[in-house]
Amino acid sequence: MKKTKLLLATLLCVLTATATEVKSPNGNIVLTFNVENGRPTYSMTYKDKAVIKPSHLGLELAKDKHASMGNDEQDLMYGFSLEDESTSTFDETWKPVWGETATIRNYYNELCVKLKQEIMPKHQKEPVSPDIQLRPQVHYRHIIIRFRVYDDGIGFRYEFPQQKELNYFLIKEEHTEFTMAGDHIAWWLPGDYDTQEQETQQTRLSEIRDRMKKAVNWGNSSVAVFSETGVQTSLQMKSDDGLYINIHEAACLDYATMHLELVDAKTKHLTTKLGGGSNAYTPDPTPSKYPLPEPFTFVSHLTPDATGLKGAMQTPCETPWRTVMVSDDARDMLSSNLILNLNEPCKIEDTSWIHPTKYCGVWWEMIVGKSSWNYTDEFPSIKLDNIDWTKVKPNGRHAANNEKVKRYIDFAAKNGLDEVLVEGWNVGWEDWANMWKRDVFDFVTPYPDFDIKMLNDYAHSKGVKILMHHETSSSTQNYERHIKEAYELMNHYGYDAVKTGYVGDIIPRGDHHYSQSMNNHYLYVIQEAAKHHIMVNSHEATRPTGLCRTYPNLVGGESARGTEYEAFGGNRPDHTCILPFTRLQGGPMDYTPGIFETKLSNWSNNTSWARITIAGSLALYLTMYSPLQMAADLPEHYEQYDDAFQFIRDVACDWDDSKYLEAEPADYITVARKAKGTNNWFIGGKCDENGHESVIKLDFLDKGRKYDCTIYADAKDAHYKTNPKAYTITKKMVKAGDVLKLKEAPGGGFAVSLIAQ
Ligand code: NOJ
Ligand code: CA
Repeated sequence: MKKTKLLLATLLCVLTATATEVKSPNGNIVLTFNVENGRPTYSMTYKDKAVIKPSHLGLELAKDKHASMGNDEQDLMYGFSLEDESTSTFDETWKPVWGETATIRNYYNELCVKLKQEIMPKHQKEPVSPDIQLRPQVHYRHIIIRFRVYDDGIGFRYEFPQQKELNYFLIKEEHTEFTMAGDHIAWWLPGDYDTQEQETQQTRLSEIRDRMKKAVNWGNSSVAVFSETGVQTSLQMKSDDGLYINIHEAACLDYATMHLELVDAKTKHLTTKLGGGSNAYTPDPTPSKYPLPEPFTFVSHLTPDATGLKGAMQTPCETPWRTVMVSDDARDMLSSNLILNLNEPCKIEDTSWIHPTKYCGVWWEMIVGKSSWNYTDEFPSIKLDNIDWTKVKPNGRHAANNEKVKRYIDFAAKNGLDEVLVEGWNVGWEDWANMWKRDVFDFVTPYPDFDIKMLNDYAHSKGVKILMHHETSSSTQNYERHIKEAYELMNHYGYDAVKTGYVGDIIPRGDHHYSQSMNNHYLYVIQEAAKHHIMVNSHEATRPTGLCRTYPNLVGGESARGTEYEAFGGNRPDHTCILPFTRLQGGPMDYTPGIFETKLSNWSNNTSWARITIAGSLALYLTMYSPLQMAADLPEHYEQYDDAFQFIRDVACDWDDSKYLEAEPADYITVARKAKGTNNWFIGGKCDENGHESVIKLDFLDKGRKYDCTIYADAKDAHYKTNPKAYTITKKMVKAGDVLKLKEAPGGGFAVSLIAQ
């Protein structure tokens, strides 16, 4: 008996004193976990180089005025000891409903650590009377930290089993640290609770603070910046010793979106107010009571809700996965499936109604300002119930009218596009975002010049569908109140996809786009849509964290600066060479590529211009992976360049295989993809403002087979500024092993189709 106890004690001693190591399947990544002075601590190396130096884990809890039992507000920061740990290996191959490859391998080694924290039950804190000293009774709380170590990175999360001592609790802040090994180059967006539509900044970590003011996009309608060193995820970095490191999160469910706040030499306390914007957050005036970590440490910073709190939890529950991807080859950042793998398998049983979609839309001409979403200019504001729409005076600029929509349907049918997005079809666009207006749209009443039955019948008769648009203008309860009726209307007329929008500050007032409550709203919309067999493409919603594995009806989203900004001053030419490293890590983006008439003043009063060549625009259909791809320009512009438009007609948007051939963040990306269920390949190359020369070895083609190859390239004198529409189209036969040498102009690119013979 004694012997056993001794053995147990020794074992415990080893558990508390020694760090535990877990390696990735190929051994390149080593994760180390330890409890140091009562604090859970982890670190990570790649091929013996430090990726994450020892970093603490923990959560600071808030006082719950309703708490009646337990010690739920004692922080989960200190006082931990190791209770148990176990390792395991997992290896499965799964098939995504749509994707970059037909199958995905989910292969990792797992470390599961069970920690206990000594707590004093509330009712025993005070002695009953000064004369009677009760012996305090020790209680423990238990949490689990689960690490998964893959060949391309790690994921870890906190899990909170149900227990009396941890039942309901409120999160004041999550204190997950990521201590970097050096002053890396980072591609970052200012941390913001409401927008992610800024241009990406490229600086050293030490330069973030000085760059912040310039980086903040004050022009957006909803801005809430929280710190001079706060940045968003997915954050791409590169170290001086050649490592590409990416921090993001996976499976953000019933939890707030995570930002990262950097500790640098000037940091006094975290959550500094930067101010400005219509909805700038006033942080808790009491700085965190915990000591600052060492410089070059990112600390998690969650998005607060309207009360300023970061999370309301009920056990059993868990946080999203915190992810760190690493490689010494930038191409591995793009081919990684780490985020998808950390999400739960598909929860939708019948997925036969989910399909990749190429679409055009009554859209770009409104964004550019040539026509309008609203039907009338008659009223200073409108109340939906008070208007007889048949009697109002039309403004003559309303785009979503029968004649125009039919023209777009004809264009889609002629060119093999599956759907036509129509925005501004429903009443309410006369006054919408940022008025604190609750009953802004009803999502079911068309304007008088949009015959919903006739147009859907017309589209279906030509094998095309209309793609629904629901701009919520961030009046979220209004959308939830109308959602069932709105989706029933879609089912009735045969719509199978909706583009939602969250422009402006969130109503209920004070909430933020990326809070726990808003993340729950977006999920509710996806689940409700799935019940109605509707695919979802959300604009201005929270940045994706791979939920499209679990809910593949989430076919796209914006959550970054899209093509629309080409009409609002322009996107930098390197923008689309960064997004695949950052925004696209969590899921596909509805970037809406395909602008051929880049000089907008050629056809409108808009003086902005798209910073891309036509060949570069074609490349985006490959380099910006999405099962939902728009041909965003006007039909008449495509008709002028029909030979180049042929590529958009031909290109697939669902793939059996993808091979990233060249990549460097903010410089260039080249990818070859094999179209689903065929032997045809498509290749796209996109570069920044400096141009690029690609050498492509066609060693991925089937041996012994010939391919009809069409190359859409920038002409010799093409340039995104001065000569964006100069392209060449070359045809030849190629075979496996041949080499293509292609020159990309500044701000340009190329597209290649290889049709198997
Ligand atoms: C912003 C979206 O990104 C854009 O695509 C849409 O047209 C407008 N909101 C209106 O909903
Ligand atoms: Ca937008």
